[in-house]
Amino acid sequence: MADLDLIKSKVDIVELIGQYVPLKKAGRNYKGNCPFHSEKTPSFMVSPDKQIWHCFGCGKGGDVFRFLMEKEGLEFPEALAQLAEKAGVPLQSQSVGEWGNKNLLFNINELAAKFYEKAMEDSTQGRQALNYLVSRGLSRETAKIFRIGYAPTGWDYLIKFLERRGYKLDDIEKAGLAVRRTRGYSDKFHHRLMFPITNASGKVVGFTGRVLNPEDQPKYLNSPETAIFVKGRILYGLSATKEFIQQANYAVLVEGQMDLLSSYQAGVKNAVASSGTALTIDQLKLIRRYGEALVLALDADAAGGEATKRAIELAATEDLNIKVAILGEFKDPDDCIKAGVDVWKRIIDSAIPVIDFYLDHSIKKFGVDTVAGKKKVAAEVLSVISLLVDPVEKDQYIKKLASLLATSTESLYEAMGKLKAPRSAAKTAEESALPDRDPDWLSKQMLGIVLYRSNYYSDFRDRLDQIKWQGWSERVYESLKNCYTGSEFSLDNLLPTLAYDDRVALLELLMVIEEQYATMGEVDIKGELNFYINLIQRRQVKQTLTRLKAEISAAEQSGDQEKLSTLLEQFKHL
Ligand code: UTP
Ligand code: MN
Repeated sequence: MADLDLIKSKVDIVELIGQYVPLKKAGRNYKGNCPFHSEKTPSFMVSPDKQIWHCFGCGKGGDVFRFLMEKEGLEFPEALAQLAEKAGVPLQSQSVGEWGNKNLLFNINELAAKFYEKAMEDSTQGRQALNYLVSRGLSRETAKIFRIGYAPTGWDYLIKFLERRGYKLDDIEKAGLAVRRTRGYSDKFHHRLMFPITNASGKVVGFTGRVLNPEDQPKYLNSPETAIFVKGRILYGLSATKEFIQQANYAVLVEGQMDLLSSYQAGVKNAVASSGTALTIDQLKLIRRYGEALVLALDADAAGGEATKRAIELAATEDLNIKVAILGEFKDPDDCIKAGVDVWKRIIDSAIPVIDFYLDHSIKKFGVDTVAGKKKVAAEVLSVISLLVDPVEKDQYIKKLASLLATSTESLYEAMGKLKAPRSAAKTAEESALPDRDPDWLSKQMLGIVLYRSNYYSDFRDRLDQIKWQGWSERVYESLKNCYTGSEFSLDNLLPTLAYDDRVALLELLMVIEEQYATMGEVDIKGELNFYINLIQRRQVKQTLTRLKAEISAAEQSGDQEKLSTLLEQFKHL
């Protein structure tokens, strides 16, 4: 890992990040608007001393490598290679490993994309495939941008082509392009229109092939999942459209490849396609990287169903604002765009907030003329309203629903309370006062303060020693103990004893702590540390009690008197 430190020392983090985000000096650090979420007051900070960046708004942070990975959608080895080149540091081949395998699959898929592109130009059947595209309203230019191609008929044209380029059959299969049959291997795709699927940074990871012969099944055939192609983490079109999503600050989600291409060509370029599968958290995170809102433009048959509800549930956790575009009489976006580019744009512009959509839909489905209908509407819509995080927004919808159902807001709040317990209901007030996105948060906060004020350590040492540190915190705490000289300890001694990733995480933590406590007096900082230690001790005692109780009742049942008395003894001591 010596490579990493060397590269890092030669790359100016302020200059590198400054290429993406205008940075202003603020004390020892630099500040700017976070490139990973949208904000008006800067909460994104870069520390040249620590070679670390961190956003106090969205919580992202890390070193130069992490920044490139997040910003450019790179895998770690790619970021490493880019920065090594920039720093003029030759890489030792040991860092290749697993990456080498993935790279091989990327290369095979890229070459296959070229093969299909060429087959579309050079063969008679390929030109017919292009004509089919054109007959569906797509231009040659759009086809070029998305690298659409043609998979020829025939048994193994692609395999032969790749073998001539020196690739092994085994690897072609691993790349998802060869299939084992009873008489040897055949190409995966035959006589299909080929849409390369790319990851966020534009590398080809697989393909979708559409039939040209209507008798062939299935209509769309996808590459199997491989080491580089995981369906739930990919959105079709994203690498070409992400800059437009960033500009518009929202994405339009369509189902099909053809919908995406038509939308792009029609000038609504900030779109991505889910390729007909259920939306995943990873896909929403991907969208959230580029924009704050999402317009669902799903096929008319799917809009009111599970897909929409799932999207709301998922979006609540990702802080993504969701609207629904109403396609009306059109079957899908492609169909709508055929009726006119302006029709499509108007439909997108008049998308309605997803809860309003859900409400309308539910009222149409169950009706509000009968008590039974009202109950069903209330149950369905409340389950969605309860997911809202913003209490003001929640209240607005409760009022709206109350007026539509001609009932009181109180009874709706009561009904909502009776729905299955919301996620945080079980927590005590004390616990819910603390952010809970990171289970390790409390340990980190304590460690951070101790590192920030190393002279406190001797006062708190006995109590800190008793804490059951875990994972990262345990590793750091052990190293910290070993570096302690009797009065304080120096960070310079501590850092080299940690693994690279642990070190980066520690520096980021310190940066956060320094900001948090910059304006706080010594007494208060000590008070905080004391508060956290009390809190974690109480939690750990509670956990031990629960465990002991379970063990005691087990011992009672099995009649193990000896064990029972030891356990009871332990119980008394707590
Ligand atoms: P549709 O059946 O709505 O197709 O499936 P479409 O997009 O309108 O396609 P065209 O207009 O006939 O060419 C929606 C999406 O579901 C996926 C594809 O991504 C498709 O675009 N799908 C569909 C499959 O993966 N396999 C299939 O067999 C069918
Ligand atoms: Mn269609």
